[in-house]
Amino acid sequence: MGLVPKTRYDGVAMLIHWITAVLMIYMVFFGEDLMKEGEAISKLPDPTGATFQPSIHVSIGTAILLLTLLRIVWRLTHTAPPYPATMKRYEVIGSKSLHGLFYILLIFIPLTGWITFGNFSKYHEIMQQVQLFGLFTMPQPPFIANYKELHDLGSNAAMLLIGLHVLAALKHQFIDKDGIFGRMLPW
Ligand code: HEM
Repeated sequence: MGLVPKTRYDGVAMLIHWITAVLMIYMVFFGEDLMKEGEAISKLPDPTGATFQPSIHVSIGTAILLLTLLRIVWRLTHTAPPYPATMKRYEVIGSKSLHGLFYILLIFIPLTGWITFGNFSKYHEIMQQVQLFGLFTMPQPPFIANYKELHDLGSNAAMLLIGLHVLAALKHQFIDKDGIFGRMLPW
């Protein structure tokens, strides 16, 4: 029935949301270790395997970027279910701003990572063999810069936003009891 407003997200939106959530949580907490351990192995007399963990880092990060591009296409071609009328204006503004910031970070973090990769693989030559999805070597970015600090700042900001996002979902579920959480759950 076309006139009845949707009350929940569709399967595609849920799938993208939950895969991105799992990958992002892994990356903001363990992404740094993947690079640091690879870098440490690259300095050993036998650097075999040094590119393995960095390959996981760039592949998961690139998957997050691709999922985000897909998500933007989905978002532009579909309408999100409307907010319940019980939500106050400042809550709706807060929610929309937080979601907007997520989109920005989900693009900003992988892009600063890619540009930093150019610098990283210049100083650690073995990293030029880092594999993307186990299929081909990581392409060099169009320009090279050390945006490590920006990349790290983006990751820490994402960690903070994920915390706020989860707290907001729990508030909707257990305090407001307005069914917002259920809109992103398949059951
Ligand atoms: C999208 C999720 C991503 C997250 C959350 C993430 C997170 C991080 C974090 C926390 C660090 C450690 C920064 C530091 O030591 O100060 C790091 C390092 C790094 N990341 Fe990512 N990253 C992501 C995606 C990517 C992608 C897609 C690439 C490349 C295409 C990439 C390339 C790098 C490189 C090269 C470093 C090492 C920088 C260096 O030590 O010089 N990252 N990342």
